[in-house]
Amino acid sequence: MAPRRKKIYEGKAKILYEGPEPGTLIQYFKDDSTEIPAHRKASIEGKGVLNNRLSEFFMQGLTNIGVPNHFIRRVNMREQLIRQVEIIPLEVIVRNFAAGNIAKRLGLEEGTPLPRPIVEYSYKSDDLGDPMVSEEYIVAFGWANQQDLDDIVALALRVNDFLSGVFYGVGIKLVDFKIEIGRIWDGDFMRLIVADEISPDCCRLWDVKTGEKLDRDAMRQQGAGPMADPYTEVARRLGVLPTNVGHGGKPTLIN
Ligand code: C5P
Repeated sequence: MAPRRKKIYEGKAKILYEGPEPGTLIQYFKDDSTEIPAHRKASIEGKGVLNNRLSEFFMQGLTNIGVPNHFIRRVNMREQLIRQVEIIPLEVIVRNFAAGNIAKRLGLEEGTPLPRPIVEYSYKSDDLGDPMVSEEYIVAFGWANQQDLDDIVALALRVNDFLSGVFYGVGIKLVDFKIEIGRIWDGDFMRLIVADEISPDCCRLWDVKTGEKLDRDAMRQQGAGPMADPYTEVARRLGVLPTNVGHGGKPTLIN
């Protein structure tokens, strides 16, 4: 029997195991949903499989345009090999249109275009409900310094341009999204790279024509169906269904 792997971390949607070589981890995508109330079915069959593929698709796309990230290769339907990073305890959020918290805070109508992409930060803490924090907090508490923050904003905006374009090409508006950033060390030299995952779990995605939601807000509204339907639709449009291999599938262009 294969030796049991050492579990490093378990979150709501993912598990991290020790990887085969030092400096690597295995990231396992669960079906569990953070969005479905506990009294309803709490897991969406197939969501983990789709998010494993979708995160791979986006991370490889980022690699292709020179945006450093943690993805190394897919291991199986639910697992991918990633670089181990020292995660910065921030959710880095980029917003293109008003929705969610910014709409509430500023009384903006959902869908209002923002004057420019806005980057904001939340402190990663489930107990505190990921409170929004300012750059002043981040520097004062030593989570990142000013140079890191400049690099984080530059990374976040490159990811935004890339994702916005990819989604727009298949008729989807990228309203906002969240990424996480990690540090990797090469001797004394430190670099910041995109980590965690990029999937419909961390994005607001609306159909360009109909405004239909194709993200976890849709999950929240629909509850758990037999399949992760909005996520399947996103994967289908991008040509990334699990039956396709890697980037081999053809995206469905929507005119
Ligand atoms: O809720 P809020 O409007 O702040 O969310 C902004 C974006 O960040 C949304 O796309 C949401 O899916 C993502 N997010 C996330 N995980 C969190 C908080 C926000 O993926 N804990």
